[in-house]
Amino acid sequence: PPLNEILNLHDFEAIAKVILPDKAWAYYSSASDDEITIRENRAAYQRVWFRPRILRDVTVVDWSTTILGQKSSLPVYISATALGKLGHPDGELNLTRAAGKHGVIQMIPTLASCSFDEILDAAQPDQSLFLQLYVNRDRSITKRYVQHAEARGVKGLFITVDAPQLGRREKDMRMKFVGDDAGARVQENMSGVKKDEGVARAISSFIDPSLSWKDIPWFRGITKMPIILKGVSTPEDALLALEAGVQGIVLSNHGGRQLDTSRSGLENLIEIAAALKTRGPWPNPNFSVFVDGGVRRASDVLKALALGASAVGIGRGFLYAFCSYGEAGVEKAFKILGCIQEEFEMNLRLLGARNLNELVPEMVDASALQSH
Ligand code: FNR
Repeated sequence: PPLNEILNLHDFEAIAKVILPDKAWAYYSSASDDEITIRENRAAYQRVWFRPRILRDVTVVDWSTTILGQKSSLPVYISATALGKLGHPDGELNLTRAAGKHGVIQMIPTLASCSFDEILDAAQPDQSLFLQLYVNRDRSITKRYVQHAEARGVKGLFITVDAPQLGRREKDMRMKFVGDDAGARVQENMSGVKKDEGVARAISSFIDPSLSWKDIPWFRGITKMPIILKGVSTPEDALLALEAGVQGIVLSNHGGRQLDTSRSGLENLIEIAAALKTRGPWPNPNFSVFVDGGVRRASDVLKALALGASAVGIGRGFLYAFCSYGEAGVEKAFKILGCIQEEFEMNLRLLGARNLNELVPEMVDASALQSH
């Protein structure tokens, strides 16, 4: 269908499913084992209900924010999804260009199909970008990569901590990785790939499973970028992250692609917020708490923010937008959410909040969220 008939982010997924080659659809849409967590990521949002306020003069509403000190026109960033060229010849550049036009922040994946410098070269001079890091067994490779990113102006380092090994994504594993079909120029990292267990396993064999809390000071020593741990699920680890002196965490289960039957980031937010509150200001200006997984509507985002999230990441929503319509699809996704006043404006008005600071926990009923 023509782009003007697209009304929401789910529409892009329906189109991607039809038009993508089998291998690309399997890699993008798959989640681990029985795919229970990926379903829960959506379901969790459906268990949180709004408690809207009325009569608050909502003529003017504003949903812009800052994320790690960087301006963002939405309280949403583009989360890293690997191998963009499987789904569109321009790969990640679709996201970079659209994000530059609309003031949205993109997190660049270590496993991008386009090289890091190609992505940076496609960005506007003042465009904010973050980097997602898979840590290589050879730390000198990681150090060079991180320092190069900082030198090129990247504003935040998201270290993925939920993937010491890739989850079993069986839909993807039924596919064979063939040579360059992933657009997978995974550069120096690609040594020793296993080609017979799908795309994901083939490209991830360099990731270091020995990564531990002891490594955090080393990262602190090689970069001044804010460091965020992506893939935290428990209050225990949230508190360790705070103590380790990093600048934030992403409550994420990797879009359901790692440990199946992990809980959703949204559900974990409630107990993690409660734990962090006991250790200082909440929200804490020096410790951001992001959430991702299953977010497809501005109303989802507002629920997470009301419960204390600093901002929210979206992976597949934007990925499927560029698979379907390239850069224009991503721009459309931003517009649908709010870059030109759609979902965010309506939801904030109906909720009785003029800006994101007016979102408070009392605006949602999350009592059905936690099942225990
Ligand atoms: C991902 N994600 C991911 N995360 C990461 O840290 N490094 C990576 O290389 C990737 N690659 C990747 C590929 C694909 C195809 C998907 C769908 C996801 C996880 C991603 O950053 C984010 O956590 C989830 O995508 C959020 O869930 P939704 O928005 O896709 O439901």
